[in-house]
Amino acid sequence: MTPRQATPPRAQPSRQAKPLTAPAVRARKGSGPPLVMVTAYDAPGARIADEAGVDIILVGDSVAMVVLGYDDTLQVTVDDMAHHVAAVGRGQQRALIVGDLPWMSYHVSVEETVRNAAALVRAGAQAVKLEGGRKRLPMVRGIVDAEIPVMGHIGLTPQSVHAMGGFKVQGRQADAARALVDDAIALAAEGCFAIVLEGVPDEVARLVTESVPVPTIGIGAGPWCDGQVLVFHDLLGLEDRVLPKFVRRYASLKADAVDAIAAFADDVRAGRFPGEDETYHLADDVLRALAGNGTIGAHGADDGAIGALAGNGTIGAHGAEPRTA
Ligand code: KIV
Repeated sequence: MTPRQATPPRAQPSRQAKPLTAPAVRARKGSGPPLVMVTAYDAPGARIADEAGVDIILVGDSVAMVVLGYDDTLQVTVDDMAHHVAAVGRGQQRALIVGDLPWMSYHVSVEETVRNAAALVRAGAQAVKLEGGRKRLPMVRGIVDAEIPVMGHIGLTPQSVHAMGGFKVQGRQADAARALVDDAIALAAEGCFAIVLEGVPDEVARLVTESVPVPTIGIGAGPWCDGQVLVFHDLLGLEDRVLPKFVRRYASLKADAVDAIAAFADDVRAGRFPGEDETYHLADDVLRALAGNGTIGAHGADDGAIGALAGNGTIGAHGAEPRTA
């Protein structure tokens, strides 16, 4: 077996490809190029990911940290997730949309789990993802029985941040590595169509990948997985405060955005914005009509903007120079 991303494929424009389904993702085990998944949380993000040709858009509960400013993922609710799933649904055309079930939405009962999964589907998700191994099997079964495809997620599961004692690489000891393999086998047997492997040594990811009949999608799990996922804001450099070891930044959009907004501020302050091309004007006949009716000027004075435009020599709606002068 060779690392799955040894020969990275070029992304194909979405308009050349058919919409991807969960069974089609499942069928990519052992065939085709590695699966590409990125997170997105709104319509522009989904359009960008879709046009880049990704296979799967994950509306991750990482939205809590990268968009909403929380320190962990525990703060978002099913309603929050549905709101973001719906926005992504309005921007996506081809990629499969997976909605993340947030913390406490699948921990109480199977019935509650299925209702919450259905809420994400009604919002626009075509599959859902939940964290955890064998202890989540009844929930996985319930969702699958409701005809909703489920993606598993094991290893570093951010919703367990307090139980794990922080965001730490998992499966470093032999017992823990074996447990991850057993978890993955059980999740696949229960019907998961793919499994995210997060924050595990690459040897463990390889063992898991070779042990299950469904694709593994890695993040911080090395090159042996059947696919890779990164968080939108990390890969585009929109998040620049931390750079985890497993992230590769393909752009510096935060720095570009700061530069762009600073340039706008400079232009406004120096009177360079808006320019002639960025300004609306009245048609000449309207201008003449306004100038000729004797009530010109923003406050009834006859020396205002209309008079100025009509050529009476005075400039400015309030008798002042334009702020851009
Ligand atoms: O919420 C998320 O972004 C995720 C990925 C890290 C897999 O679960």
